[in-house]
Amino acid sequence: MTQDLGAAADILRRAQRVVVLTGSGVSAESGVPTFRNAQEGLWAQYDPLQLATAEAFLDDPNLVWQWYRWRRELVAKAEPNPGHHAIAQLSKRSQSVTVVTQNVDGLHQKAGTDNVIEFHGNLFVDQCFAEGTIEKETKSHDVIPTCQRCGSYLRPGVVWFGESIPTVALDAATAALSECDVFLSVGTSSVVWPAAGFADIAANQGATTIEINPEDTPISGITDIRLQGKSGAILPELIDCL
Ligand code: OAD
Repeated sequence: MTQDLGAAADILRRAQRVVVLTGSGVSAESGVPTFRNAQEGLWAQYDPLQLATAEAFLDDPNLVWQWYRWRRELVAKAEPNPGHHAIAQLSKRSQSVTVVTQNVDGLHQKAGTDNVIEFHGNLFVDQCFAEGTIEKETKSHDVIPTCQRCGSYLRPGVVWFGESIPTVALDAATAALSECDVFLSVGTSSVVWPAAGFADIAANQGATTIEINPEDTPISGITDIRLQGKSGAILPELIDCL
């Protein structure tokens, strides 16, 4: 056990209210590509402006639908990794643990974490493009499905660039942050707002901040404890120490 891992375990053991923010790095070891990895990252291979904006969908709905359909199929095959399982274990401890994820892959829930706040929506949910209503049944077929009420195209229920975070998710995350005593950031580059501001908010209201990531990020300089490495290796070790 390194000194930092021990210190992080001590702090987590004593915490009353923990917020865990996760990003795509947590799912990397499940075979789900991250966004900003220089070689395999989705945004290194595809232009987000052509795929992840409302304008892109208006321009070429079929291109956008097929790209998300490809991602749905890729993610549907993925299984939670030891990092997801360790977070699920943490969430079952007696203290209050709120998991806010920027991931749309549902792998935290698959690992058994309840009450996950899906900050950027869910890949497997369809949403009416015109009305914004969420459809219960996902239609993952070739042709873009349409809304039964208004006839508009359905789109994937994820937050695109330029769109607001769903109010329910934003309110729940803000409330959890305002009273947390430990903030744990895992596998996110911390460049996409508003989640990128969580570490600062938590630190300003007195929480101890911990970051798990193999790389430095914009929040590395302000976090109290930095655990450098993969979440699938570090998180199980950390939980074992509790
Ligand atoms: P990024 O691709 O921006 O960052 C992934 C982070 O994970 C990087 O900091 C990596 O160093 C780290 N990482 C890679 N492998 C890891 C591992 N095994 N364990 C731990 N960390 C690892 O992805 P996000 O931060 O999730 O938004 O991106 C935030 C948002 O930008 C996404 O939710 C998405 C994207 O555009 C929307 O689609 C709205």
